[in-house]
Amino acid sequence: MSIIIDHTAHTFTLHTAHTTYQMKVDELGVLLHTYYGPRTDGGDLSQLIYHFDRGFSGNPYGKGKTEKGYSLDVLPQEYSCFGAGDYRITALRVRQADGSRACDLRFADAAVSRGKYALPGLPAVHTDAPDAETLTITLRDPATGLEVVLLYGVLPELDVITRAAVITNGGTAPVVLEKAASLSLDWQYDTFDWVTFHGRHTMERNFQRMPLQHGVQSIGSVRGTSSHHYNPFAILCDPAATETSGLCYGVSFVYSGEFLMEAEKDQIGQTRLVCGIHPDDFAWPLEPGESFTTPETVLTCSGEGFGLLSRHLHTLTREHICRGPWVHKRRPVLLNNWEGTYFGFAGDKLVAMAKQAADLGVELFVLDDGWFGKRDDDNSGLGDWFPNEKKLGCSLGELARRIRQTGLAFGLWFEPEAVSEDSDLYRAHPDWAVQIPGRRPNLSRNQLVLDLSRTEVQDYLIERLCALTQEAGLTYIKWDMNRSICDKYSAALDAAHQGQFSHKFLLGLYRVLETLHQRFPDLLIEGCSGGGGRFDLGMLYYTPQIWCSDNSDAVARLDIQYGTSFGYPCSAMGAHVSAVPNHQTGRVTPLETRACVAMAGTFGYELDPDKLTETDKSEIRAQIARFHQYYDLLQYGDYYRLRAPVTGCSVWEVAAPDGSEALVTAVYKTVEANAGLVRVQIQGLTPDARYTVTLLQHEGTDQPHPEFLRPVTLTGRELALAGMVVPPARRDYQAWQLHITRC
Ligand code: DGJ
Repeated sequence: MSIIIDHTAHTFTLHTAHTTYQMKVDELGVLLHTYYGPRTDGGDLSQLIYHFDRGFSGNPYGKGKTEKGYSLDVLPQEYSCFGAGDYRITALRVRQADGSRACDLRFADAAVSRGKYALPGLPAVHTDAPDAETLTITLRDPATGLEVVLLYGVLPELDVITRAAVITNGGTAPVVLEKAASLSLDWQYDTFDWVTFHGRHTMERNFQRMPLQHGVQSIGSVRGTSSHHYNPFAILCDPAATETSGLCYGVSFVYSGEFLMEAEKDQIGQTRLVCGIHPDDFAWPLEPGESFTTPETVLTCSGEGFGLLSRHLHTLTREHICRGPWVHKRRPVLLNNWEGTYFGFAGDKLVAMAKQAADLGVELFVLDDGWFGKRDDDNSGLGDWFPNEKKLGCSLGELARRIRQTGLAFGLWFEPEAVSEDSDLYRAHPDWAVQIPGRRPNLSRNQLVLDLSRTEVQDYLIERLCALTQEAGLTYIKWDMNRSICDKYSAALDAAHQGQFSHKFLLGLYRVLETLHQRFPDLLIEGCSGGGGRFDLGMLYYTPQIWCSDNSDAVARLDIQYGTSFGYPCSAMGAHVSAVPNHQTGRVTPLETRACVAMAGTFGYELDPDKLTETDKSEIRAQIARFHQYYDLLQYGDYYRLRAPVTGCSVWEVAAPDGSEALVTAVYKTVEANAGLVRVQIQGLTPDARYTVTLLQHEGTDQPHPEFLRPVTLTGRELALAGMVVPPARRDYQAWQLHITRC
């Protein structure tokens, strides 16, 4: 039993293998949050809550005369409400029928069930683990009858707790939800650093760490997507936490749209975290009896630093977010034509590329943007999902057949949510585009956005996507989305319901993706939003890999993939070797370096094979063979960040879960004369076993100083404590890979 209800102490205690989460109903029926952290013995930790009069922190009626120290403004609570005496950031704000906005939830009921709950229409953690359990706690606002059911999913082995809430108007008058977060979480005593991942197009998920200060620190998106700018994932940690030590809490939002994650250090140094749909674009009317379900938030806690936190999230994502056969099936090495041709291709050119790619060992050919409608640049055609047979020189089915004849599988790019003004779809259905009547809409990449909140729009996309998948025998789809959304308005919603638009858009998107997943369970879908603009657990539920960034420069990718690795596994990160000079940065890096970096993701190539030299080609054949050789390690191994890119030499390790082998990759940003040596401590090995460390040498790899060619044999304990030395760089952007095998 991982969930324990103590009817005497009125506590709810959730245990995972190494953590405990506890709540308690107090004498007023308020659901207090008493603890989240390393595993305890289950005692009632509300004993650590003390009531002091904090001056301007008021008291609920009935308490004020006797207990001035009892205040919702300072008590740690499980689901905080706006307007009834808690002045901090809150999870729930409701506009009542009379215009007032207070809500005060009190405990009503609780139940435990086996298995983990699901959220119909929304992505959520799934598991058939026999020890997974669900706790539901019902809270009610006595004055209005508004009811909140808090859902808790417990995955004991992964130290994961999930949360969501179902809010029901149990009263007799309509209300409007102005804010409905998925969780709020309070800590009474801890001091934290706040780690977030900010970015921009072509430079996503940069690691940022700062002490949590008094006031509210927040990240979020009102762009319609989770965004390049702030990833919906954050960490609160002990200021002393490192990769291998210290208490860390990870919070990841299983949602691909607008979000707000806030952390507040209050007047007495307590911390509150609130995470959910961004309230700025949200107003959800509820008639009596109607309910609203929030998206899910994943919580995990590690007492051993960021590294373990990440590994829990990696396993969770791979096994309990992603679905279908691709969870365990080998992903194909692909060639995508985008950076090789952009819009300038014909069918014969594509077939020629596929032939050359097959000769290199590539397994899947992906035809990117430009194969449909009138689409020779980014001014037109989006929405017209009909093959441009003139450009392709044949039907799509015929092109797919010719590509398959080369031995490659075939995949296609779509941007289903987009529409060009210059398209037949827009001419036929201008009201399907998101725009506000009487206001000229913003264009971004010359395009508008389709109103996916509308069922008929979803149905159009479902019909087109399914028909083309069938016609071309697609094994892969790249699902792109190339702008942020503004001018939000749906022609299908009345004024009172426009505040539903953003979330309904997401529900529509998820419906289309789910239908595709159900009809073509073997189809591999790669998410993309101008690279990594929608890189979140919500999308990963439908698309087990996401193009990590439109920046394919190996050196820039060190930072991007480093930041991404905190919350997401290598198997989720689309990563390709592209041509040099790199198209985004102009940088020239060795082919070997580009391959080493792309191997930390779902490996592929994005270039014109015709422009490769014979030496390049033979190097690429060796790279693909190496990727296959180490596939299980690279995609399913335990991931360790050994040195951050900011140090100048980025080093990461993947270790077999049974400790039998590990692969260490090191990439230098610059070469230095007479440089000091880089030592790394290897993790994940068996302490008593002996290992040999060998520098991998392939075609194209440089010769290190001869000293570094001699194999090193040490125990796992020695490699962990004393470590090993990475060969120094012989040129800028030098990459080395070292294989560690048990003797
Ligand atoms: C943005 C994507 O991130 C690119 O990889 C490419 O697919 C282009 N869109 C095509 O328009």
